[in-house]
Amino acid sequence: MTTSGTTIAAALKAARSRIPAAEASLLLAEAGGYSRAWLIAHDDDVLPDAVSQRFDDWLARRERGEPVAYILGWREFYGHRFAVAPGVLIPRPETELLVEQGLAAIVSLSTPRILDLGTGSGCIAVSLALARPDARVWAVDFSAEALAIATANAERLGAKVEFVRSDWAASLSVRDFDLIVSNPPYIAPDDAHLTQGDLRFEPRTALAAADAGLADLRHIVAVAEDLLAPGGMLLCEHGYDQAGSMQEVIVGKGFSPVRYCDLAGIVRVSGGRMAEAQPPGPRRETGAAKNSLGT
Ligand SMILES: C[S@@+](CC[C@H](N)C(=O)[O-])C[C@H]1O[C@@H](n2cnc3c(N)ncnc32)[C@H](O)[C@@H]1O
Repeated sequence: MTTSGTTIAAALKAARSRIPAAEASLLLAEAGGYSRAWLIAHDDDVLPDAVSQRFDDWLARRERGEPVAYILGWREFYGHRFAVAPGVLIPRPETELLVEQGLAAIVSLSTPRILDLGTGSGCIAVSLALARPDARVWAVDFSAEALAIATANAERLGAKVEFVRSDWAASLSVRDFDLIVSNPPYIAPDDAHLTQGDLRFEPRTALAAADAGLADLRHIVAVAEDLLAPGGMLLCEHGYDQAGSMQEVIVGKGFSPVRYCDLAGIVRVSGGRMAEAQPPGPRRETGAAKNSLGT
């Protein structure tokens, strides 16, 4: 417990015996609205009581296992700050690979049409929309709570994204996407990780999928054919040991497969390109997306 008159150095020293040092510095900086550089330069300063109390409260929550992102209410992703709350998955750094490869897949297209399936906080859709302001971006989730957070993130960050509440593509009336990206739930329901660390606090519906974690990935590959434009690309994030299964499904559906590795050399994004039509046909339905779940 931080007592009245505690210096920054003393508060941080005490906190480091309870949680990792980097997290202690981040929580204290945010509790006081300080920059990290300011904290280092002012470590003899006495903490104001209000800051001290907020820091104590956050430390206790973190000690109980609550994720830092939920305590602070935000997480950085692809250079942007996304608001998060327990109704959405906390964006992961590894998901930036999906954004990078998604952008590469549409680099030669003007005004590409993009779909993000299972948008959560909106981190993928919003990052793509900000990187490609000429794109039209749609984003789907079945969680009303997630869509409210994603919509607020898009508005605050100035991204143009059309959000649709839907069970995957079931209520989506738009088609002809040049790029579909998805980071669906892909953890097996009996995976012990679901009961450990940050995952305990995140929505189970954002994490776990039937069929050893492959059910949603398989469904998305199955419906992608009907959603993609000729030559369009599907890219999905998946678990470290799911690349082989994904490859089978993707090849089985007639896509030209692609796969991308993370920094550790593990395939974490798989997908495929649809064949080009000969000759290319006109765009199909381009009207506003339906919302059959009543929001
Ligand atoms: C792993 S989270 C990904 C969230 C976000 N795209 C990200 O990368 O941080 C999966 C998301 O899929 C959504 N989801 C799960 N099942 C769904 C379904 N049947 N239809 C639509 N969205 C679904 C969850 O609500 C969750 O937001």
